[in-house]
Amino acid sequence: MSYYVTTPIYYVNAAPHLGHAYTTIAADVMARHMRQRGEEVFFLTGTDEHGEPVAQAAERAGVTPRELADSNAQRFKDLMPVLEVSNDFFIRTSDVQHVQRVQDVLQRVHDNGFVYKGLYEGWYCPRCADFKTGAEIGPDNTCPIHGIPLEWEHEENWFFRLSDFQQPLEDLFERRPDFVAPRARYNEAKAFIDQGLQDVSLTRAKLRWGVPVPWDDGQVFYVWFDALLNYYTALSYADSACDLTDTFWPATYHLIGKDILKFHSIYWPALLMAAQIEPPQHLYVHGFLLQEGQKMSKSLGNVIDPHQVVETYGADALRHYLLRDVSFGQDGSVSTTAFESRYEAELANEYGNLASRTIAMIHRYRDGVVPRTDLDERLHSDLDIAQAVSERVDNADLTGALDVIWHAVRRLNRYVEEQAPWQVARDEARSDELDRTLRSVIEGLRVVTVLLHAYLPAATERVLTALDQPSTDYAHAAYGAGDGGSRLGQLEPLFPKR
Ligand code: MSP
Repeated sequence: MSYYVTTPIYYVNAAPHLGHAYTTIAADVMARHMRQRGEEVFFLTGTDEHGEPVAQAAERAGVTPRELADSNAQRFKDLMPVLEVSNDFFIRTSDVQHVQRVQDVLQRVHDNGFVYKGLYEGWYCPRCADFKTGAEIGPDNTCPIHGIPLEWEHEENWFFRLSDFQQPLEDLFERRPDFVAPRARYNEAKAFIDQGLQDVSLTRAKLRWGVPVPWDDGQVFYVWFDALLNYYTALSYADSACDLTDTFWPATYHLIGKDILKFHSIYWPALLMAAQIEPPQHLYVHGFLLQEGQKMSKSLGNVIDPHQVVETYGADALRHYLLRDVSFGQDGSVSTTAFESRYEAELANEYGNLASRTIAMIHRYRDGVVPRTDLDERLHSDLDIAQAVSERVDNADLTGALDVIWHAVRRLNRYVEEQAPWQVARDEARSDELDRTLRSVIEGLRVVTVLLHAYLPAATERVLTALDQPSTDYAHAAYGAGDGGSRLGQLEPLFPKR
């Protein structure tokens, strides 16, 4: 099966912050997990470089939009390995191949009769690059997301006949109750459609920094249409040897933040239908990371720099924290205190200690060789969790999947306490019992480590290497799939005290 997961493409008007790292890490966990299951995976991220937010930021910085885009796109690109993100391609909407493909698809939308020239008048937020209507307009004509005054726009441009897709979108939502998740977001999108869809601007006349409209050289495409198309265009040129579109389209999952739901759940499928392209399979909408109750955002000046966190604690710790402490799909506060307590209590004490003390006991009591003996069957049901984990990841319930794994980590720690191998070791007559306990804990550790691999790629690799059983194949995430008899290496503390 092929599996295609995407993140939103990030505006290059500012440096990356933790909110951007969040979606990217989540997508990475899904991609890694699916690769472990042997699926053919494509994982895309990238930067959204055209349009007003970037043009205005460049003007403020006294550079050209291209210069700003080049330097900030590089910062996003460089962040990926820092976060241990394994994207297959990084798209920039300034790529010439993307630009050409956008023109091709939108020319088709035009030729299919879904485009007309009209006069746009209304409120516009340059930060959202969004034309606001009704409930989207805050008090005194401000943007409810950015809190800045909206601008009154009045210009002639080309319109997309979104209203023609009222019925097709209603049908799509009816037919596919899992098109948008969580359910509350599905309902929100559906309510927007039920209000009645109005046509939207497809192009902008005043702006130069964008993809030129092939049938009207005075205009560029409205940045959202150019940006949404990245998910589709990337497949055509990511691999210079072949076009991946047939293999991976329609996308399995677009992960998005809740602020960009309208574009992805309404404009995007309508545009694709207008171009006779199949809509994606699922959108999964996550919440906001909050600092003191407010969305972490550049405009509010309350951003956390992911580099700093990674430098002190490592990327694994950040990945764990974000997906464990903030329930994926809901808003959640982030704080240094909560981060440090998860790091110490869970990573260092629960998982880290389980690994180091288990390995140390094999060295101490069995000269570093895992006994070849039966497993303790009492652990079986607690560790038979691979399917429960994969079902949750299939539904993008990344916090739920991690929780299932963490229960098993805790169960193993309790097992060690109950069995007290250090006491059993004093009694030569109980040697078989000690063999079984040690072998069972090592096997349990291996199972949770394979399952945690998508979340903690670096730490788990070290553990599996020390266990001399490096396979991360999902089929090996079963209690009993590992071998006794392996000779263990040494393991330095996984999550040292800071
Ligand atoms: N460029 C558009 C997306 C185009 S996709 C075709 C955009 N870019 S963005 O850089 O402003 O935001 C990208 C993503 O980061 C969004 O999904 C947004 O929700 C997410 N986040 C930005 N700040 C965030 C938090 N504080 N918390 C969680 N995610 C947040 O929108």
